[in-house]
Amino acid sequence: MKTFNLAILSGDGIGPEIMAEAQTILEYLKQTGLVDFQIQEALVGGASIRDSGAPITNATLDMVKTADAILFGAVGDYSFDHLPQSVRPEMAILKLRKELELFANIRPIVIFDELIANSNLKKEVLQNVDFVIVRELTGDIYFGEPRGEKKINGVRHGFNTMTYSEPEIERIANVGFKLAEARRRKVTSVDKANVLETMQLWRDVVSRVSESYKDIELQHMYVDNAAMQLINLPAQFDVLVTGNIFGDILSDQASMITGSIGLLPSASLNEGLFGLYEPIHGSAPDIAGKNTANPLAMMLSMAMMFRHSLDRTDIADLIEQAVKNTLGKKIATPDFCREGWRQISTIDMGGEVRKELSKLC
Ligand code: IPM
Ligand code: MG
Repeated sequence: MKTFNLAILSGDGIGPEIMAEAQTILEYLKQTGLVDFQIQEALVGGASIRDSGAPITNATLDMVKTADAILFGAVGDYSFDHLPQSVRPEMAILKLRKELELFANIRPIVIFDELIANSNLKKEVLQNVDFVIVRELTGDIYFGEPRGEKKINGVRHGFNTMTYSEPEIERIANVGFKLAEARRRKVTSVDKANVLETMQLWRDVVSRVSESYKDIELQHMYVDNAAMQLINLPAQFDVLVTGNIFGDILSDQASMITGSIGLLPSASLNEGLFGLYEPIHGSAPDIAGKNTANPLAMMLSMAMMFRHSLDRTDIADLIEQAVKNTLGKKIATPDFCREGWRQISTIDMGGEVRKELSKLC
């Protein structure tokens, strides 16, 4: 059996708490003999700034490059908000994405039947909702130059640059179309081509790429309309492909369709199988250290890692089924607990998933 080399970067806020629970699941799987792995850990984000002054060190970057996959918790800490962008905790994840060329961010939006009543949307609107957001992750206004701040006639001006090249758009479009081939064969490309040149190029290139996928339906949608349609008729989407900034915003919005952002995993992949796996929810400093965070998105991110980077669909299925069975017991962390359900802690949720997993192993 292959011994996987896993890099674990827990980060800030609730990151270490949810990662600890994900790790107990990993250790349990190792005990059962189903998988073998070794782990390397490092500090990132605010934790790394406190330790060494940098959001991520070169040593950590070198270390993760030798791994088969990365499990990432979250970064972000209010106490560093006064620092310039380039040395804030968030720079750790942006640097990892850029340096490792993790250009394809996959964010599945699936509704667990057990949680339909958690959503603010009506039950009818939620029927058949099952789509994937494919967000470009290494370009756009996040990385475009020039960027910065300058004074013009004594007045402060801030500026950033939205930019995409043809190859950047091509490769993310290809990821979207390939994904759609294994799903319901529909791609919605989201842009703002009516106003922005960059986004007209986006639309032109996605249209051209679509010619190689004759059996996939392509629909173009402006981002403002997409924001509306996500709430109006979310079941119309199969694969939604979009740029970095629009994908950031739309994926948070889409998470609310499901009723809990605490259950949504994500994968960030390069051209090969290598990837970084993280929950989409962030560091939630307001609830950090209280043993109340929801560890399920972290566990589901781990499941995605076994599926996409480690070629162990069997393990991914096991973890996902264990989470589903746990939800079936009507127990929840505070973020998604509702009437008739029992509220439990982060650590207890870890224990419950492990118990369900042991029944399946
Ligand atoms: C996300 C987050 C990040 C982003 C932050 C933490 C830099 O919001 O992964 O969606 O903006 O991409
Ligand atoms: Mg975001």
